[in-house]
Order: sequence, then structure tokens, then C-alpha cells
Amino acid sequence: MIVSPSLLSADFSNLQGAVEMINSSSADWLHIDVMDGVFVPNISFGFPVMDAVGKILKKPMDVHLMIVEPQKWVTRVRDTGAAIMNIHQEACVHLDRAIHAIHDAGMKAAVTLNPSTPVCMLEDVIQGLDMVLLMSVNPGFGGQKFIDGTVDKVRRLRKMIESNGSKAIIQVDGGINAATAPLVAEAGASSVVAGNYVFGAPDPMAAIETLKRC
Ligand code: DX5
Ligand code: ZN
Repeated sequence: MIVSPSLLSADFSNLQGAVEMINSSSADWLHIDVMDGVFVPNISFGFPVMDAVGKILKKPMDVHLMIVEPQKWVTRVRDTGAAIMNIHQEACVHLDRAIHAIHDAGMKAAVTLNPSTPVCMLEDVIQGLDMVLLMSVNPGFGGQKFIDGTVDKVRRLRKMIESNGSKAIIQVDGGINAATAPLVAEAGASSVVAGNYVFGAPDPMAAIETLKRC
């Protein structure tokens, strides 16, 4: 399992400590949740924080943009050092153009679907994607309960990926823990995001290890 702990649940008064923990853990990536207060009912952090994290992070930065018009920020996201730029299908009218722009900037391109968006919305772009993120909570906050229907949605997306000959991997975000990660893994996901389960754990590095084995 590719594990991407979400910085959103870290102690913001000690972000350096959180990044150092990630650097010395078995986490594969660091998940960065950017919220604009428009696309989602919350505001998290923006480029100054991403630039600072990018300077000390030794792992790929997996940037999940919960913002309107994400295509405006492709080169700025690249300049933070991001490896993956992930935009919401619901936030982007010209999704095909945005995916090309992300690739042209040298990043992996990922698209996220909200719980209410069906997988068929990606049918015509799936071949050019590196990753699809299925939200297993309504985006905006950490610490919410996993939506059970996501497991079947992963299965449906896996079939669509296979029938289109796409190399996209499936990531799941929201309410991931030692009980829900094996369910999405079994359904065909190869990456999970985890906020509270990792940063709320007495031993975050052990929590990451547990998810790695799913
Ligand atoms: C939610 C964010 C998630 C969040 C996950 O809008 O996209 O990445 O940090 O947090 P947990 O794992 O606590 O549900
Ligand atoms: Zn996220």
C-alpha cells in the first residue's frame, strides 16, 4: 500500500517535527490538503506553507487541491516541489486541458471525485491519468467517518481503469484506519491517505507501518 499521511491532522505549531517524522518513517508520500473556503467549507493553508514544507520534505509531495479553478495554479504548485497535482473533477470545467497542463509542468496528474460524483465522469480522461482519488468523506475536514459505499465505488473504478487500459492507480481519502484500509485494498485501491489515524496515534510511525501492510 502506498501510504500518504495527511499534514492536515499534524500539530501546526510544529510542522517541522511532523515533516521530520514523515522523512524518517515508511510513509511513501506526504498528502497536502489545500482548501479555499469556496469549494469546501473550510480554509487550511496555501503556498507559503507548501514552499516551507517542500524545502525540508525528503518524500514526494501529493497535493490535493480542494479549490475552485485549480488549473490557474499549475506552475505555482510545481514550484513548491510537488510531485503529484490532484484536482477535483467538480472544480474544473476543462479537465482534459488541465491534465495536459499538469503533465507539461512535469508533475503526475491526479483527479479526485467527491462521494456524490460517479466514476463515469472520468471515462474520457482516464487514459491520461496517473491516479484517481476517491473521497470516502465529504471533503473539508479531517476526522470524519468513512462512507461505506466507497468500497464498491473502488471496484467500479478498477473495472473502468482496466477496460480502458489505463495505468492510473486508485487512492482513497477520508476515514482511513486499520479497519477501512484493508477493505479498499481488497477492492483495488493501491494508495490511502490518512490524517487522524496517523497524526492522532500515540505512535504515528507504527500507524504508518500498519497501513503499509494493508
Ligand atoms: C479531507 C481531506 C483529507 C483529510 C483526511 O477533506 O482531503 O485528506 O485530511 O483526514 P482523516 O484521515 O482524518 O479522515
Ligand atoms: Zn485530502
